[in-house]
Amino acid sequence: MYKTILLLATLSSLTFAQESDGKKVFETYCWGCHHQTAVAFGPPFNEIAAKRSAQEIEAYIISPESMYKAFGYKRTVMTQFDLNDNERKLVTQYILSFKGKK
Ligand code: HEC
Repeated sequence: MYKTILLLATLSSLTFAQESDGKKVFETYCWGCHHQTAVAFGPPFNEIAAKRSAQEIEAYIISPESMYKAFGYKRTVMTQFDLNDNERKLVTQYILSFKGKK
């Protein structure tokens, strides 16, 4: 029992750390153009999370230029960032955490 609880606590603190790291990436690179649930210059994260998979979101971050047509945009004005794999995954999970939020 004790071990189970300890394991659960460890897991939940890991999840928490990941969420706040994803938020940090968001605040560093994306916040100027995207907000979580309000339309800014770019679409809000709850809207993106409702229609895209993790793979699609990661692909868009890697290269908006090669993805914008497939996503239905006429052109792209989003900056292309050189995020490392970890930063990209964290911010993607952060975006997906807004699925279903208003
Ligand atoms: C210069 C402003 C700007 C910045 C900075 C920016 N974006 Fe965007 N983003 C946009 C705009 C505008 C769009 C709409 C299509 C386009 O122009 O590419 C978009 C589209 C997207 C899409 C696809 C939306 C869809 O239809 O599903 C994703 C995913 C995305 N952005 C993620 C990010 C992430 C993650 C960051 C930070 C690492 C970021 N963006 C930073 C402006 C920006």
